[in-house]
Amino acid sequence: MKKTIITIGALAMLMGGMTIGEAVAGPESKCKACHTFDQGGKHKTGPNLFGIIGRKAGSTDFKKYGKSLKNADWVWDKENLKAWVCDSKKAIKTLTGDDKAKTRMGNQKKCGEAADAVVAFLETLK
Ligand code: HEC
Repeated sequence: MKKTIITIGALAMLMGGMTIGEAVAGPESKCKACHTFDQGGKHKTGPNLFGIIGRKAGSTDFKKYGKSLKNADWVWDKENLKAWVCDSKKAIKTLTGDDKAKTRMGNQKKCGEAADAVVAFLETLK
């Protein structure tokens, strides 16, 4: 009995902390755990993504970029972002031209249409 009450309590807390936007999962719902999207938003586990399309990779004041993003020489566009959200571990190698390059961001496995949806969302961040 005690266990049931605790479970219901935890569930109510979870639901209470959720906004309507979060309840309806958008393409970016997975990214939210680590990124903010608003202008001047704080960095979380990953850097703020406002204005990401057209921005030089690794160019915010985020302190925890891995070596490859810190030294990046490419600009984010729709194509490379699609590759990034599908398989960042592979994309970092292609983008740097270095087979040993690594990124601290795990694969999000948003490929094909799912990648299109994420990138369409990223395009609105301007
Ligand atoms: C578990 C945490 C986590 C999740 C989830 C995550 N990211 Fe990241 N992201 C990171 C980290 C950490 C970095 C920095 C990686 C590095 O420096 O190697 C990063 C970097 C990035 C960058 C490069 C930013 C720059 O300034 O060059 C982009 C773009 C990006 N993420 C997009 C996304 C998108 C879109 C999603 C959702 C589909 C997502 N991320 C999900 C942690 C995450």
